[in-house]
Amino acid sequence: MRKATAYHGALGDLFAKHADTSPYNAYTDRPAMLRLAGDVSDARILDVGCGAGHYVSELAARGAQVVGIEGSATLLSHARTRVNGHAELLLHDLEEPLDFAADASFDGAVCALVFHHIKNREQLLGELRRVLRPGGWLLMSITHPTADWRHFGGSYFSHDWSDLAVAGGEHSIHYQRMPLETFLSELLAAGFVLEQLVEPRPTAALRKVDEAAYERLHQAPCFVAVRLRRP
Ligand SMILES: C[S@@+](CC[C@H](N)C(=O)[O-])C[C@H]1O[C@@H](n2cnc3c(N)ncnc32)[C@H](O)[C@@H]1O
Repeated sequence: MRKATAYHGALGDLFAKHADTSPYNAYTDRPAMLRLAGDVSDARILDVGCGAGHYVSELAARGAQVVGIEGSATLLSHARTRVNGHAELLLHDLEEPLDFAADASFDGAVCALVFHHIKNREQLLGELRRVLRPGGWLLMSITHPTADWRHFGGSYFSHDWSDLAVAGGEHSIHYQRMPLETFLSELLAAGFVLEQLVEPRPTAALRKVDEAAYERLHQAPCFVAVRLRRP
């Protein structure tokens, strides 16, 4: 049986809480990705691996019409509570085609910290290209390859499937390490055009709540985020 990459049960509950206030998600990844999104009013957006719905609610509050898809029923129930009927949410395994979506039916897609969990990334990218309209955009973030290198050691160029211990080793997150070259090559091979790449650093607001994390994340990157266009 395939090792679970979606965050089920207690791991889902843990991530939902973590994503709310953590220096990584709340102060670093999300602000950077939402900046890359720009004006989303009236845009139809697919949130791919929407987790506890943090992006869905932020994008809906900015006037977007959002569909969130997620493989964990636990996280989807957190998302339902957060979003409170202001977006469509679907249980969906990202290893499967996006059969629910028509061709060219979205203006944009957000895929935050999900891509490195997926095995059949070529299929997912092909499907994202299919469901985005020509000129549509895709935002994607992953763990920075150098952060994985620092944490797991070995070769920077490793493509190992790894288990990152969280909550003091009580849980682990299963994902594939990859060098920057692999990440960008897969996106470009799927026919997307790179518009912008950022190595997000935390916003100034983090300094007031966790100065040590603020300093640490300003010295060593934890994520890489890109904005791509579907030609
Ligand atoms: C680090 S979380 C990011 C969640 C959300 N995008 C955010 O930034 O708050 C990774 C998410 O990918 C989801 N995921 C991983 N593998 C999946 C799969 N095969 N199908 C659907 N969702 C999956 C997990 O359940 C989890 O919600």
